[in-house]
Amino acid sequence: MSLLFVNACSRKDSQSERLARMWLEQRGYEGEVKELRLRDENVFPLDASDPNGIDDYAAAVASKDYSHPMFGYAQEFARADEVLIAAPFWNYGILAKLHAYLELVCSQGVTFDIDDNGAYVSLCHIERLTFVTTAGGAEVEALDDHAFGYVRTLATRFWHIPHIDCVAAWGLDGPNADVDVLLTPALG
Ligand SMILES: Cc1cc2nc3c(=O)[nH]c(=O)nc-3n(C[C@H](O)[C@H](O)[C@H](O)COP(=O)(O)O)c2cc1C
Repeated sequence: MSLLFVNACSRKDSQSERLARMWLEQRGYEGEVKELRLRDENVFPLDASDPNGIDDYAAAVASKDYSHPMFGYAQEFARADEVLIAAPFWNYGILAKLHAYLELVCSQGVTFDIDDNGAYVSLCHIERLTFVTTAGGAEVEALDDHAFGYVRTLATRFWHIPHIDCVAAWGLDGPNADVDVLLTPALG
């Protein structure tokens, strides 16, 4: 059993990372926890040319040859039994690096496929995905629209993950905010 911890927190003293580690401790996961720290990774979006050229991507998908390094994140994701994603709430959404990472994870033929009827078939066996975040301001619906909601759509439509949860703490940048007091209730 393995849990892939996608740590998309960019700040060294990240509160989202802290909340994710509190969640991990509470979860008491018994299998292997593998942390992927995106701040240590060169994650490039799909683009017109190298390193992750869209033509190379399309040719690889068409020929089912996934040996190009751009498919590494998707292959790692497809092997996981559980996934934890930690990311700060930025500009009413997720940060660009996490978006670029997810773009590569959503590789057709590796984490999902399309059957003869045009329906999405999951190539993952992930049982649970948890999205952990913290926000500076007060709670807003945009978390559901552009941050957790986006991840949940991928998890539901492409990967058919049965258990998808969000753990969020709000108001961390408010005047006189007591971060310890704000983080704990998020864990339920
Ligand atoms: C680039 C940037 C964009 C942000 N955008 C928002 C926002 O849209 N809404 C909000 O409530 N807080 C926003 N914040 C504040 C962060 O969500 C808050 O400080 C959060 O706790 C940071 O998490 P971290 O400690 O894990 O980096 C933003 C912070 C940064 C640096």
